[in-house]
Amino acid sequence: MRELDLLIRGGRIVNAGDSFRSDIGIKDGEIAAIGTEIGPARRIIEADGRLVFPGGIEAHCHIDQESSGGIMTADDYYSGSVSAAFGGNTCFVPFAAQHRGQSLADVLNTYHERAAPKSVIDYSFHLIVSDPTEKVLNEELPAAFAQGITSFKIFMTYDKLIVDDSQMLDILAVARRHGALTMVHAENNAMIKWMSGRLEERGYGEPRFHAPSHPRAAESEAINRAVELATFIDTPVLIVHVSTEEGARRIAEARYAGHKVFGETCPQYMFLEARDMDLPDVEGAKFCCSPPLRDKATQQKIWRALQNGTFQMYSSDHAPYRFDETGKLSAGSKPSFTRVANGLPGIELRLPLLFSEGVNKGRISLHHFVALAAANAARIYGMDHRKGSITEGKDADIAIWDPQLTRVVSHADLHDNMDYTPYEGMKLTGWPVTVIRRGQIVVHDGALCVERGSGEFIARRPIDTTGMPGKLAPELDPARNFGARLL
Ligand code: URP
Ligand code: ZN
Ligand code: ZN
Repeated sequence: MRELDLLIRGGRIVNAGDSFRSDIGIKDGEIAAIGTEIGPARRIIEADGRLVFPGGIEAHCHIDQESSGGIMTADDYYSGSVSAAFGGNTCFVPFAAQHRGQSLADVLNTYHERAAPKSVIDYSFHLIVSDPTEKVLNEELPAAFAQGITSFKIFMTYDKLIVDDSQMLDILAVARRHGALTMVHAENNAMIKWMSGRLEERGYGEPRFHAPSHPRAAESEAINRAVELATFIDTPVLIVHVSTEEGARRIAEARYAGHKVFGETCPQYMFLEARDMDLPDVEGAKFCCSPPLRDKATQQKIWRALQNGTFQMYSSDHAPYRFDETGKLSAGSKPSFTRVANGLPGIELRLPLLFSEGVNKGRISLHHFVALAAANAARIYGMDHRKGSITEGKDADIAIWDPQLTRVVSHADLHDNMDYTPYEGMKLTGWPVTVIRRGQIVVHDGALCVERGSGEFIARRPIDTTGMPGKLAPELDPARNFGARLL
């Protein structure tokens, strides 16, 4: 019997679709065998009483990224990936952001240079496309897709990133042609600017006015428009960081009607509230993100949409801006809410929050947890040939959890480069204790065990629409969808 590199013994394996007690044998970075008596191993990890999950895939995070306002995130690919690993993740997909005038090839080279020497977990990138010139559409995006970067995000708001409806149609048409997935930040720019202007005119500049400046209707209007445009082109679209019931309903209706629409929400919309922005002075800035936090009742609706499958994706949207002049206070010590960098940290707590409040409180099953932690991201973003499940032949990406371990969240215990966590003081039960990426132990009993730069770039596949409502039709109905005939 050949010697394994690593044996995980006695744990309960949980995939999105099944769960059983077994050993796992790892050889050359892959899952070589699942069963009992599978061979001698150079190293054994005892997992009795533990849950053995596929390594988490964090599919929406901002790492070593300049915002359109020129502010750099606090985490680079080292601190960001270490923090992700301590939170049970073995792979992440940060954004490679195009700012206007930049070529996508240059953008991707820059992000490869940022990630390769530093990341301790595997990674890919979603592009952000803010300047869809003819060259970008016809040459640069297809070249990026061919390199395995098969998803990209567009913005319906932010003056320096926004694409208008006709640009969106052009972009969606390119995505359709190449089997790429378009992710959309859906908020109506005019409504936000109109509200922000009126609030500021009246002297309402404190962070808490960030919430009313982004009306709920700004989100649902934009989701509606994004869905209609994508449906017209007949291409899949994923609406990211959804914060309202109205937005979730629009996604659910579109799916029910057979359209290729995915939805994502984030822990901040399930665990935090607009009231958190009511802190004295400008401390509320710590809770400013877009879309903004909503009210308690909405939190429950967001949970419901996660439970009923409206959201297939649950991501941190980790956008780490420190509460100092490098981040939240870069426009001064008392900035108006319009000048506060948008975004919250959460990469390390995404999964412990969901396990503790989701699985332990009976809101979701263990299988659903794994779907949201890893399996759905692997499938939707074209990585499931390697990642997202504990299956022989796949990458040995594994997170061993102690379901009984209780900890009170303290920023001092986290591994990001931030100076606060919005989840400070929460008591959470269930934490990852050992994290293995392609067979290498990354985290074990509170210690980091790998070198920087040991993570690898993962080339992703075109989007697989198998099993999705409204599977891409080879022969499009011209009466229903004349736009698609003109592509
Ligand atoms: O406020 C947020 N979400 N900041 C990060 C950028 C984005 O739009 O995802
Ligand atoms: Zn966004
Ligand atoms: Zn984001």
